[in-house]
Amino acid sequence: MFGRDQDGSAMKIACLGGGPAGLYFAISMKLRDAAHDITVFERNRPDDTFGWGVVFSDETFDNITANDPVSAETIRAHFAYWDDIAVHYRGERIVSSGHGFSGIARKKLLMLLQERARDLGVKLRFQTEIAGAGALAGDYDLVVAADGLNSKTRSDFAAEFRPAVDLRKNKFVWLGTHQKFDDAFTFIFEHTEQGWIWAHAYQFDADTATFIVECSEDTWRSFGFETMSQDETCRTCERIFAKYLGGHALISNARHIRGSAWLNFPRVLCEKWSYRNIVLMGDAAATAHFSIGSGTKLAMESAVAMAALLHSEPTLEAAFAKYEEARRTEVLRLQSAARNSMEWFEDVERYLHLDPVQFNYSLLTRSQRISHENLRLRDKEWLEGAEAWFQRLAGADANTVRRPMFAPFRLRDMRLKNRIVVSPMAQYKAVDGRPTDWHLVHYAERAKGGAGLVCIEMTCVSPEGRITPGCTGMYAPEHEAAWKRIVDFVHAETDAKICCQLGHSGAKGSTQLGWQEMDAPLDADNWPVMSASDTRWSERNQRARAMDRADMDRVREQFVSAAKMAARAGFDMLEIHCAHGYLLSSFITPLTNRRSDEYGGSLENRMRYPLEIFHAVRAVWPHDKPISVRISANDWVGPGGIEPHDAVAISRLLQEAGVDICDVSAGQTSIDAHPVYGRMFQTPFSDRIRNETGMATMAVGNIFEPDHVNSILMAGRADLVCLARPHLADPYWTLHAAAKLGDRHEAWPLPYLPGRDQLYRLAGRDEPIPTAV
Ligand SMILES: Cc1cc2nc3c(=O)[nH]c(=O)nc-3n(C[C@H](O)[C@H](O)[C@H](O)COP(=O)(O)OP(=O)(O)OC[C@H]3O[C@@H](n4cnc5c(N)ncnc54)[C@H](O)[C@@H]3O)c2cc1C
Ligand SMILES: Cc1cc2nc3c(=O)[nH]c(=O)nc-3n(C[C@H](O)[C@H](O)[C@H](O)COP(=O)(O)O)c2cc1C
Repeated sequence: MFGRDQDGSAMKIACLGGGPAGLYFAISMKLRDAAHDITVFERNRPDDTFGWGVVFSDETFDNITANDPVSAETIRAHFAYWDDIAVHYRGERIVSSGHGFSGIARKKLLMLLQERARDLGVKLRFQTEIAGAGALAGDYDLVVAADGLNSKTRSDFAAEFRPAVDLRKNKFVWLGTHQKFDDAFTFIFEHTEQGWIWAHAYQFDADTATFIVECSEDTWRSFGFETMSQDETCRTCERIFAKYLGGHALISNARHIRGSAWLNFPRVLCEKWSYRNIVLMGDAAATAHFSIGSGTKLAMESAVAMAALLHSEPTLEAAFAKYEEARRTEVLRLQSAARNSMEWFEDVERYLHLDPVQFNYSLLTRSQRISHENLRLRDKEWLEGAEAWFQRLAGADANTVRRPMFAPFRLRDMRLKNRIVVSPMAQYKAVDGRPTDWHLVHYAERAKGGAGLVCIEMTCVSPEGRITPGCTGMYAPEHEAAWKRIVDFVHAETDAKICCQLGHSGAKGSTQLGWQEMDAPLDADNWPVMSASDTRWSERNQRARAMDRADMDRVREQFVSAAKMAARAGFDMLEIHCAHGYLLSSFITPLTNRRSDEYGGSLENRMRYPLEIFHAVRAVWPHDKPISVRISANDWVGPGGIEPHDAVAISRLLQEAGVDICDVSAGQTSIDAHPVYGRMFQTPFSDRIRNETGMATMAVGNIFEPDHVNSILMAGRADLVCLARPHLADPYWTLHAAAKLGDRHEAWPLPYLPGRDQLYRLAGRDEPIPTAV
């Protein structure tokens, strides 16, 4: 056991900073060993604190209570509780419940912690400015640098702590008011001539509420906040939010900040948290955006963890090492949720066209910590209202409450029964481009499995446009006939729709089957490949020939001919594959388009050929049937390649051309890509495209839970959701999801009804549901 210095006497400890981290660490140490000699140094007076209230969630406080029931009790006695979140937006006030928060004045919290620390024998030195932890390190066994957001210690030892401080783009100011917001945590979004501006308001004691005002830098400049004094800021904000303030003033208590008190939130990350006998804690080490109200929680929980480790580990080094190991994951998890929330507010103008119901849903799920079903646990009635709204909007019967994934969708005259799409997946089982019985069984099973739309694999417009010798084609009469057999089965036996994805492999052609060495050239019989420019996929692949005008005309006619065959085969929809580094994608991304003619250079030029193909295909494709385009919305190589904002520009061009829906995939355009994987990792690109252009989108990529699908749809992040691998593991994914969720409205194939009934019974009893895996 450590916690005492080498000769067994108690430790001499300095806490630099009398905020929640410094004070709570001192308390937590004294509780574990009263003999420690601990001094807290604070530059301000005891009751001289910036800010207003802080919030805790129910869960946060359990940890604090377990550490010190005494201070927890006194803090709790001063809590203001509320369960509701109210959102004022476009003249409506939407309230949802079950959120379980508590709030306390920051000043009160600090006074209670000071009192507890004093009772436990901690020495508190106020009005004592310290020149960073380095100035104390020689005189103490341990120095805890809890010196806040602008930690001098962190910058003094920047070479050791390696901090990254990211000053975020929005402006905010932390104000207070005596207007009551005691019935709900309240968000107010106001539209002004200068732009959108919003407030986060919550009550924290009998007569005071926090009122944080936030806006974009543009809006902030338009208002002239830059040159305003704190009083002028307050008066201006009072005018903006007058109808919510009931005549009460807005007050600033940030007199210690020079100038206007508006801040940009600094997102702080440090590679290391300790150096010699100094350890960073609280905001000095890591910050979490105020919109998820977890900064104080992080600070206090880190204090508990450090105090415990100092008493369980043999040395200071070991305690520091474990502290970093144990806390870092938790801090990163919270920081990631805080980042999602912060970015939502930074990009909020993207969502300000949404209907109030959807806007509210998007706001509540912004950190991605609250799932669709979790919202139901919080406020069933509210969520069911939102679900009914979604169904109504989709043209369904809103009296039957169903999840968003079971809402119908219409594109031109194609009506889908639900929002689930079997994403295109190459099977590599074709013979000379002809689909076989494998394809009949494979697609028929997925169509029987409940998805609204089944998209067939990339089907190639010519033999040399195939990726592998096993790829399907649409360039010979027997291909058309074989596809027609599949389409006819789907139409005769199921109510799914079926989409034909047409593509050309370009420089990624003449490669091995998917389960051999992906993207590697064939061992023998390679065929020549062409692309936008004379590039190669990798050193091992053959160099592609740059397409000339004759090639471009020929390939365009191949697409046209394939589209005519697809129409005759009866497909309900076409998708043109412009993603993943294949031929049309090679024109779009600057990584592979080096052309100097009108098909290279600017994005407009790079889009010219894919759009020529689209127009030519559209001209022969039945007017009542939709066409989608699949794109790679991010090359994952940074500024040299396609980035999400380029994807928005690409979508605008597709939208103007008359493409009905954008299938938003990403990557596979460069071997140098560094994708950032995670649940729903490509959905933000779909979200951005849909909400910035108004174009319908499909999201895809690591979406595997019904909950993911429902939250994506309900928040307006996509119109349809594609699942690929989950449908390889379970062709009946949609029917199984419905059974699990208790939805009894999805139609099953008639011969399978006894199986359905058994599944429903088992699901009703909460017994394991047999799945295909
Ligand atoms: C607008 C806004 C709203 C927030 N809302 C919430 C919320 O609702 N809930 C929540 O949990 N968190 C919230 N936070 C975050 C929260 O305030 C911090 O995360 C928390 O205070 C961190 O505690 P700390 O002890 O690390 O730092 P601080 O509370 O900043 O304490 C650091 C202390 O060190 C002192 N100090 C610094 N340098 C020296 C020096 N050289 N010599 C002597 N003393 C020094 C400072 O005076 C200060 O008192 C919010 C933050 C902001 C900006
Ligand atoms: C075996 C397999 C084959 C694929 N073939 C294609 C294809 O032909 N066309 C296409 O656009 N995407 C293809 N993809 C990509 C998927 O459609 C989808 O975008 C990707 O797998 C991510 O979705 P998931 O996480 O649900 O699997 C394929 C994916 C897999 C796993």
